[in-house]
Amino acid sequence: MGRLIRSVLAAVTLAAFSAYWLSGFDAYTVFRSDGRLTSSRPPNAANGKVLFAAGGCFSCHASPSSPDRLHLGGGQPLKTPFGVFYPPNISPDPLDGIGRWTQVQFIRALREGTAPDGHSYYPAFPYPSYRHITPDDAADLFAYIRTLPAVSGRAPDHDLAFPYSVRRGLGLWKLAFLEGTAIDNDPARPANWNRGRYLVEGVGHCAECHSPRSLAGTIIAEKRLAGGPNLEGKGFVPNLTPDKTGLGEWSEAEIASLLKDGFTPEFDSVGGAMADVVRNTAQLSDADRMAIAVYLKSLPPIAGQSRSK
Ligand code: HEC
Ligand code: HEC
Repeated sequence: MGRLIRSVLAAVTLAAFSAYWLSGFDAYTVFRSDGRLTSSRPPNAANGKVLFAAGGCFSCHASPSSPDRLHLGGGQPLKTPFGVFYPPNISPDPLDGIGRWTQVQFIRALREGTAPDGHSYYPAFPYPSYRHITPDDAADLFAYIRTLPAVSGRAPDHDLAFPYSVRRGLGLWKLAFLEGTAIDNDPARPANWNRGRYLVEGVGHCAECHSPRSLAGTIIAEKRLAGGPNLEGKGFVPNLTPDKTGLGEWSEAEIASLLKDGFTPEFDSVGGAMADVVRNTAQLSDADRMAIAVYLKSLPPIAGQSRSK
């Protein structure tokens, strides 16, 4: 009997220890990393600037106290059902920002959600989408951020409810849910469709707001881009698929035009988080906005919440 209890205890301890270890800082990097962390060409900061706008990096990282949105001192509260996040300082400041980071460390943060010291990031930093950014484009983003002003000071610690406050669990979350596959060009589709998919699913991270989530905080795949509850406040985020509850009646030109000036075909202006997204997409080229529209209109229609609500 004593032996049985001892072996059960040993098995439980081993299982608990393995889970603890697996949930730890580099489980993802060990088991799932595709290793695409280096760029194949000299960085192009001008392209980085376009991606920075498409990615809305300043929407979360700009210092709330500064009128200049290129002061990336962080600290603007990001409210979620899990608690309040305070996005960190990502300005080139060597002490408080990312001034001492290497290009590979930056690419790993964006594509794998892993910090230079090996800990995992919360997916409130939308790296599950940013992981589709190519290593070359990520290197360009890094080069552009390095041209911005260094800002001193650090953001407050996140204020999260238990158990989300335990960062260690994120290693397991990533192992279970972070997609391993890259979005490669589909040669059967036109170039602007591929560009649109890259902008929507990758750097533009549209699905991060425009989809419902499971209890584990992951996007529900069958309802991707079909709209969902607004995690940052009241109401819901509309359906972007070409269903009648979504963009079914919109032309490509109408979608592209909303991304430029924020007006819907009924001359309502978008509000809330989308007003901020439009400040970013307004900086893209007409061709990029059209590519986004072409991709969205090509999606299979998925029924969502009726917009008359
Ligand atoms: C929706 C809000 C949001 C957006 C948009 C966003 N981030 Fe972040 N970012 C965060 C949060 C929150 C964290 C902190 C995550 C954590 O502590 O685990 C973070 C962390 C980071 C870090 C790690 C910094 C460090 O000190 O470890 C980098 C680098 C970063 N973001 C770069 C970017 C870039 C580049 C973009 C645009 C392509 C971007 N972020 C867009 C919310 C955001
Ligand atoms: C930070 C969250 C967030 C992100 C990221 C986001 N959106 Fe939105 N979007 C919203 C919200 C909220 C609304 C509803 C605004 C309103 O009702 O005034 C909206 C509205 C829209 C609308 C108008 C739809 C309608 O039926 O009125 C379009 C089109 C749209 N978004 C496209 C996009 C595209 C394309 C992207 C990616 C480039 C994107 N959004 C990224 C939150 C977001």
